[in-house]
Amino acid sequence: MASRGIKDRVAIVGMGCTKFGERWDKSSDDLLVDAAYEAYASAGIEPNDVDAYWLGTMAQLSGLTLSVPLKIPYKPVSHVENFCATGSEALRQACYAVACGAYDVAMAIGVEKLKDSGYSGLVGAEPPNDGTLGSMTAPASFSLLAPAYFKKYGLDPVKGKEVLARIAWKNHHNGARNPKAQFQAEVPMEQILKSPKVADPLGIMDCSGVSDGSAAAIVVRAEDAHRYSDSPIYIKALSFVSGPGQGHLSQDYDFTTFHEVVASAKDAYQQAGITDPRAQLSMAEVHDCFTPTELVLYEDLGFSPRGTAWRDVMDGFFDLDGKLPVNPDGGLKSFGHPIGASGLRMMYEMWLQLRGEAGPRQIPNAELGLTHNLGGFPGKCVSFVSVVGREIDG
Ligand code: COA
Repeated sequence: MASRGIKDRVAIVGMGCTKFGERWDKSSDDLLVDAAYEAYASAGIEPNDVDAYWLGTMAQLSGLTLSVPLKIPYKPVSHVENFCATGSEALRQACYAVACGAYDVAMAIGVEKLKDSGYSGLVGAEPPNDGTLGSMTAPASFSLLAPAYFKKYGLDPVKGKEVLARIAWKNHHNGARNPKAQFQAEVPMEQILKSPKVADPLGIMDCSGVSDGSAAAIVVRAEDAHRYSDSPIYIKALSFVSGPGQGHLSQDYDFTTFHEVVASAKDAYQQAGITDPRAQLSMAEVHDCFTPTELVLYEDLGFSPRGTAWRDVMDGFFDLDGKLPVNPDGGLKSFGHPIGASGLRMMYEMWLQLRGEAGPRQIPNAELGLTHNLGGFPGKCVSFVSVVGREIDG
């Protein structure tokens, strides 16, 4: 397989991100306009300076969703969708379009407005039926990771539940320091452990929330980056894989890993020249749709050897002041998951951290970061991994 990547060939020179949450005050159009205009301002450009746009959203069907509110008629606007990793897919397409020379300036933007729609993790995405069709909700599907992991690595369920709660505690701790998060309060361990059950052993506090939001990035060639920004950030790797989609039917799949994540991480590390992610990365934003997902991701992304991530969690290795902070912005746990926006929201935290603009969440000497965005379910998913850095190598 040839995956040469585009290391250091494109840079992000402007980003915007709305506050996430129940945005009754804003339409989807308003959220797009707010994110886009914050991004234009940070790159010092006008809407017309952008040559092409990539829009990530699950809810809408065409480029008109963007060209109308942004008033950018006759510009190329591509609508992309790739499950919950839709925002990252938009970024990947914009980066490749600039890297190949087709455009000088591209915008990737994602949006979702879920609260108005009544969307909930407890409603399965099945077609209309007579109610007798067997189906599993997202919390139920991801809950299967927890007992599988506990059993494989000899964790008793009480200890295992504490490990999961510690992940939620960390992410709410970080989100409490983020003015753009949906939930901006620390939550005590006791409250997390006792939160009402959604899909055993997961309680509400093990789940990401449901929210509205939008985020946007402006991409240019690396050699042009300093024309737009004193502190651009550089794309080191972009990897996106789709799995065979058979895990849930396979006797061989044991629900303690996402094979798709392992494959995309391997590809991204090879593109970026990373050999030891645990030591080389300054930070990561990962797809913590549910707490056991984050636990399994630590091992799939190579942050912890197999069977040991739970110890790293309890030791604070992934805390804001730990050796490898994960979800410094608060993650999906604090932001909710407006599907098209989440991948770009993760990148927005990289943008702030690598430029030293993350305020009370600032990670000292942040140089290299990873974002990971997952779509689908255990055994049947797509996975995206990016690596971004503050400097061009060499
Ligand atoms: N984490 C923390 N707090 C949450 C929360 C969450 N996941 N979900 C809701 N809350 C809080 C709300 O802020 C609210 O607090 P308040 O009473 O102080 O205002 C309270 O809990 C009740 O909120 P409500 O919106 O009524 O919750 P709900 O019961 O409708 O929703 C869940 C709870 C768990 C069902 C919902 O958050 C959910 O569906 N999450 C999973 C989303 C999902 O599956 N996404 C796909 C990922 S692959």
